Amino acid sequence: MFVTVFLLLVTLCAQGGNGEEREEAQRPGHVSVVIVGGTGDLAKKYLWQGFFQLYVNQVSSGNTFSFYGGGLSPADQATSVLFEILKAVSCSKDVSQERCALLKEQFIRLSKYRQLKTLEDYQDLDKHIEQELQQEGILEAGRLFYLSVPAFAYADIADKINSSCRPTSRAWLRVVLEKPFGHDYRSAQVLATQLGSSLKDEEMYRIDHYLGKQVVAKILPFRKENNKFLDPIWNKHHIERVEIVLKETLNVKGRIPFYDQYGVVRDVLQNHLTEVMTLLTARLPMNLSSSEEVLRNKLQIFRSLLPLGKNQAVIGQYQTYKTEVQQELNKTKDHVSVTPTFAAVLAYIDEAQYEGVPILLISGKMLDERVGYARILFKNDMFCLQNHNSIHCKPKQIVFHFGHGSLQYPAVLVSKNLFKPVLMDSEWKEVTEHTDVNVLGLHISDYYVQTPTEPREAYSELISHIFAGRKNSFISTENLLASWGLWTPLLNSLASSFPRIYPGGSDNGDLLDVRVRGKDISYNSEVVIISNDQMGGASAKDFQVMQGKFRSADMVSAWAEELVERLAADMQEAAEAAVREGGVFHLALSGGSTPLALFHRLALHHFSFPWKETHVWMVDERCVPLTELESNFRSLHDHLLQHVRIPYYNIHPMPVQLNQRLCVEEDGGALLYEQEVSKLVNGSSFHFVLLGVGYDAHTASLFPGSKVDELGESLVALTESPIKPHQRMSLTFSAINRAHRVALLVMGKGKHELITQLSRVKDNPDKWPVTGVKPANGRLVWYIDYDALLG
Ligand code: BG6
Repeated sequence: MFVTVFLLLVTLCAQGGNGEEREEAQRPGHVSVVIVGGTGDLAKKYLWQGFFQLYVNQVSSGNTFSFYGGGLSPADQATSVLFEILKAVSCSKDVSQERCALLKEQFIRLSKYRQLKTLEDYQDLDKHIEQELQQEGILEAGRLFYLSVPAFAYADIADKINSSCRPTSRAWLRVVLEKPFGHDYRSAQVLATQLGSSLKDEEMYRIDHYLGKQVVAKILPFRKENNKFLDPIWNKHHIERVEIVLKETLNVKGRIPFYDQYGVVRDVLQNHLTEVMTLLTARLPMNLSSSEEVLRNKLQIFRSLLPLGKNQAVIGQYQTYKTEVQQELNKTKDHVSVTPTFAAVLAYIDEAQYEGVPILLISGKMLDERVGYARILFKNDMFCLQNHNSIHCKPKQIVFHFGHGSLQYPAVLVSKNLFKPVLMDSEWKEVTEHTDVNVLGLHISDYYVQTPTEPREAYSELISHIFAGRKNSFISTENLLASWGLWTPLLNSLASSFPRIYPGGSDNGDLLDVRVRGKDISYNSEVVIISNDQMGGASAKDFQVMQGKFRSADMVSAWAEELVERLAADMQEAAEAAVREGGVFHLALSGGSTPLALFHRLALHHFSFPWKETHVWMVDERCVPLTELESNFRSLHDHLLQHVRIPYYNIHPMPVQLNQRLCVEEDGGALLYEQEVSKLVNGSSFHFVLLGVGYDAHTASLFPGSKVDELGESLVALTESPIKPHQRMSLTFSAINRAHRVALLVMGKGKHELITQLSRVKDNPDKWPVTGVKPANGRLVWYIDYDALLG
């Protein structure tokens, strides 16, 4: 049957002919397409139409096809459902009615429902494909499985495909997956590992349908085509800010069981809007069709994005969401959900090109209009004395308009006071006849406008890329994890925040307007509508900072974000007091990951910190070159020092590398550091020492069993760690306990058990080194977050 269809359609195509996909990078042969979840919503709305489009485009390519809609129901129940879906597929305008009817008929005949539930079902499918291939005597080109099912089923299905449905040697296997790909870094990693045990990376196609939108797909080509205009202005000196916005009018009724677990940040910011951001800011690839280069350049952006702190986001929830949750999840009237349906997030890229350029990512349900766009707003250096309507005085901007909104069609708009863009290719046209609309503050006639000659559905576009084996519009495992790496800490810190409640639609007025101040974003209006029942019985004080005692010293406790805020404020206060008294502040900082949040806080929010008068010392160091990522100094440099204006001569890394070797006793590095401390620090008493505590209760690099008391009066010593790198240099208790103030920062659930033990044990620095921290004339304060304290 395949051959007959093929011949018949070749004849038709030779007569008609349309703009087909020409890019297949594979030998022609037979292709089996299996949509698992083939009668579901997504398949019904987009997938079958997308595969029909592929079929139409491919009929003259030498490939033959069979399509399978797979599902859990038995075939006698689902076949008719699939048939109804297939009947609804349609042709593009350039296909004649007669040809379309024939193509549809063939497509429907080639499509079958199959129950795909058990391993045997998959084995049967495999047998069936093999038999058909043999009967028809044709070569197999490949198998494409589209998993349009909930993500929890992925690993199991991938396993079944791997064990029973792999094509024979030269044919390809491609498995397409729909988001969600996890709900945070850890779960995404687990899912990636599970999938990785059944599928090779190149066999997986993770879909983000935004990458198939015509305008989104044109961002990189547009930047490249217009590089001669953009290169001089695509940087911090010219860009005022970048806005990436997806506004929706609908609520999430009917999707609550999914949505309430995810919320707007996971649903669209972590994926769609983040992808757009990387396309706008990634280094331009030399070769746009090199997936490897495109993905690598996008990955580089993730590496350069500054961490997102709690002050870089505001969240909201539409008013009726709560009731929808109660109804759909069968909850009582007092059930509260803090899932955000609106979020505005402020990101910064730590690269010289974009330093200080605010990037806003905003999305919400139940807003006043449906529209999606990315706007690059440029600084305007013009001052117009009189004629404010002249084009020079108007906003300078480039808008990638994904669709809907007042414009109603996808387009790239460049304001006429910037430059006239090059026409991208024959699939795009200039629009010169306009209806009377405004787009983001400018009348349409103030823009050069380009739009696709023919609108195409994102899914159809991506399906054609999958078929061609083009991977640059899909999400690689590395990029996915990098994205979750960016979003997970923010999601964690938002987990205890109450969203601002908004009424929905145009009634929102200016309630969701946001303002960017320095590195913070906040709602512009102060009105916070939180009804009592939104608080769910919890009182605001449950989320505040609490003071107490721990091991008879002072303790401050709060959620991580507030705790870090408090510690940074205390540190600044100590710095100001020291500078007032003696003109200098000596600060000793420890390594590890715990203080990173504090370093970011200091770098991003404490602009008035007296850095010029501050000397920064190290509490301890690993015996590796300072340029290595493992080096405590390197981490301090990357996360704090390079972001603040501190004189170079105030920075004191530990001399772990002397005579081209690392931490050799005879080189006397420890003694050198001790002499430097004695020379510069009055009485060798640091004003402030920041310490952490490891799971084995070590502090600084003073580990259990290391006989630290034998070090006598030395201030600095070479020590041994049970974990790599084993050699360390560390301040000793003699140095630490001379400090005016010592802060012990402990965060994370993982430290709960340790904190519980520490609350009970007696001082025994050999076994529990941290219990040796006892400033002789100074003050010790424990900063313990609720996770570590309460578990
Ligand atoms: C989906 C989200 O991925 O994208 C939806 O799950 C959202 O919540 C949709 O509505 C937006 O896509 P589009 O193409 O309508 O902008």
